[in-house]
Amino acid sequence: MAKEINSIGVLTSGGDAPGMNAAIRAVVRQSIFRGKKVFGIRRGYAGLLAGEISEMTSHDVSDTIGRGGTILQTARCLEFKRPEVVKEAARICEKKGIDGLVVIGGDGSFRGATELAKNEVNTIGVPGTIDLDIACTEYTIGFDTAVNTAIDAIDKIRDTSTSHERCSIVEVMGRGAGYIALWCGIANGAEDILLPERYDYDEQKIVDHIIEGRKKGKQHHLIINAEGIGHSTSMAKRIEAATGIETRATILGYMQRGGSPTAKDRVYASIMGAKAVDLLCEGKSNRVVGYRHGQYVDFDIIEALNMEKCIDPYMVDTSISLNNR
Ligand code: ADP
Ligand code: F6P
Repeated sequence: MAKEINSIGVLTSGGDAPGMNAAIRAVVRQSIFRGKKVFGIRRGYAGLLAGEISEMTSHDVSDTIGRGGTILQTARCLEFKRPEVVKEAARICEKKGIDGLVVIGGDGSFRGATELAKNEVNTIGVPGTIDLDIACTEYTIGFDTAVNTAIDAIDKIRDTSTSHERCSIVEVMGRGAGYIALWCGIANGAEDILLPERYDYDEQKIVDHIIEGRKKGKQHHLIINAEGIGHSTSMAKRIEAATGIETRATILGYMQRGGSPTAKDRVYASIMGAKAVDLLCEGKSNRVVGYRHGQYVDFDIIEALNMEKCIDPYMVDTSISLNNR
């Protein structure tokens, strides 16, 4: 018979993402609604190991749903990859009476969660990353806000690029994945979108494309470059030398991770946080919450980690046909 859960811990791990606070709030309030104690663990797995754990009340999460970042703070804790360190973390959970744990983070954080599950801590993962690079889910907390923040910034860059008749390369985050770049590229009508999943490193094609656009009377040329390709500053220098057109690079960076979450991120994060608590209360462990085909779902963490995600080829092809007329 499944072990009854009496108290639930929650932590955020890996890169922060807007909407994480909405998920934390949901875990806290749904736990209280279900009659469980709830503990906030600061600074991800690092804070768990350091015993930075305190009971949370409903009031502790008041006025947090609209705030960016994570009120619990987050960390990358490399030592957590060592089995003996995970064992120690499980021992700390037992000592503190935490028998269920909600881990809000990305794939790396889920690897830590599955290791904890092997050590008798019931764990549920909630996908929190701006990168959208988690295979089992069509939605991850923070992606929507990050894209909205980025497109707003890119609109501004495009204005000045047009005024000066320049070419602009804007580098967006996404680690090895091109989802933020693809969405921004479509939403901002970029002439070129460089995705790690597709880019063939043939810079001459970009140069020809810029020159062709200029001949057609285009006043700017916007290139969205994914972080997974990078090197935007040196690329700008080479493109300027080859085209004779002033070219500037902007790396948007961490602004994409901050700011107040959009309605979508607040709502999806809230439902996912609550669902994580419900799964724990049903006696489930080693599961990750996802969103697929219009429904909130859950998968075994190992199965989820083994799934393959690929960028939608139709979306990529359409971005090219729409933005290059
Ligand atoms: P994300 O969760 O956003 O993918 P990371 O890949 O940096 O971010 O992982 C976050 C944290 O998860 C790491 O700092 C580490 O504490 C933990 N983690 C990552 N990989 C493993 C692993 N193989 N085993 C145990 N813990 C891991
Ligand atoms: O995973 C989110 C993300 O912002 C990635 O897009 C980026 O590659 C990485 O985190 C940056 O990590 P850090 O905050 O450690 O610099």
